[in-house]
Amino acid sequence: MVPGELVTLRPLEPSDAEAMWRWHQDPEVMRWMDDGYAQSLAEVQRSLAERPRNTYSEVLYGVRARADGQFIGLVRLRDCEPETGCAELDLYLGEKDYWGQGYATDTMRTMCRYGFDKMRLHKISLTVVTENHAAYRVYRKVGFVEEGRLRQVFRRDGEWYDEYTMGLLAGELR
Ligand SMILES: CC(C)(COP(=O)(O)OP(=O)(O)OC[C@H]1O[C@@H](n2cnc3c(N)ncnc32)[C@H](O)[C@@H]1OP(=O)(O)O)[C@@H](O)C(=O)NCCC(=O)NCCS
Repeated sequence: MVPGELVTLRPLEPSDAEAMWRWHQDPEVMRWMDDGYAQSLAEVQRSLAERPRNTYSEVLYGVRARADGQFIGLVRLRDCEPETGCAELDLYLGEKDYWGQGYATDTMRTMCRYGFDKMRLHKISLTVVTENHAAYRVYRKVGFVEEGRLRQVFRRDGEWYDEYTMGLLAGELR
C-alpha cells in the first residue's frame, strides 16, 4: 500500500476487473485515451489474472479513495530504466462521481513521490492530448512542464489531435 492524503495506491485484485471493464465502456472516461479494441468482461478478468507481478520496469496500482475505500482508477509507471532513471506515467480515474475533488492531483503526487523516493527515478514523463484540459491542469499543478508537441498523433471521431510531451525531474514535484 502507498498512502497519499486523499488516496491509497495498492496492487490490483481480481475483483477490480468489473469496474475496469465498465470504465472502458464509458465514452466520457475514454474521451482522450487510446481505447484499443473492445474487451469482454471475461477477457479483462483473464488479463488481470495473467498479468505479471509489479517489478521495477512496470508498477501498476489501483487508486482507492481513502474516504470510503472506493476503487476509482489506475496509475502506472512503465518503461522504468535503472540505467537512466527515466520512466513514463499513465493515469486515469474511471469513477466519474469522484472527478473534480482533487483525487487525480493527489494520485499524481503520491505516485511521483513513490517513483522519486522509493525507485530513485530521475525523471518521469507523460503525454496528454492538448484538448484534455483537466488532465493538463493536474499535470501542471504538480510540476510537469511541456517539453514538446507531437502533431496529429491522436485520432477521435474522425479528427486528429496533437499531444504535449511533459516531464518532471526529481526535485520539481509540487
Ligand atoms: C483528467 C482526470 C485525471 C482529472 O481527475 P480529477 O480527479 O477530476 O482531477 P483533480 O480534481 O485533481 O483536478 C482537476 C483540475 O482540472 C481543472 N479542470 C477540470 N476541468 C477543466 C477544464 N475543462 N478546463 C480546465 N481545467 C479544468 C479543475 O478545476 C482542477 O484544477 P484546480 O484544482 O486548479 O481547480 C480525470 O478526469 C480522468 O481520469 N479522466 C479520464 C481519463 C483521462 O483523461 N486521463 C488522463 C489521460 S492523459
